[in-house]
Amino acid sequence: MAIRNLRYGDDEILRKVARPIETIDEKIKILAQDMLDTMHKYEGVGLAGPQVGILKRIIVIDLYEENTQYILINPVIKKAKGEQIVDEGCLSFPNQYGKVKRPKTIVVEALDINGKKVKVEGKDLLAQALSHEIDHLNGEVFVYKVEEGTLETITEQENKK
Ligand code: NI
Repeated sequence: MAIRNLRYGDDEILRKVARPIETIDEKIKILAQDMLDTMHKYEGVGLAGPQVGILKRIIVIDLYEENTQYILINPVIKKAKGEQIVDEGCLSFPNQYGKVKRPKTIVVEALDINGKKVKVEGKDLLAQALSHEIDHLNGEVFVYKVEEGTLETITEQENKK
């Protein structure tokens, strides 16, 4: 178990397109576990490779309910339907929040940690998380997607109120 350093805000790696993973070797398995540990430490619901400085197409998600933890390698959005306007934040932009338009339902195909093909059908929060994390793999960050005038910065002190 290891906590990786997070990349923040203006870090260039967050604006780059991540590369597909060709072999799920021991290094990738350790990376996946570290990403889960890092996400859990900071109480996030999702984390993408570039956020820990690894420009590879891997995401992890945990909605903190039964059977809602995912490690997805080379995820591809196959279907996205409907829309929802949701409050959003990101571990790479601590204290920033805004409203973002996300699909209401989404179907993603990916490989799991054993290299097996998996299909994940998400709605509501899972659809939002999948969309947000896959955006990271394409160098897209939520602060550029927020509905006009909704981006807020909440300082630590206000958070503690
Ligand atoms: Ni994020």
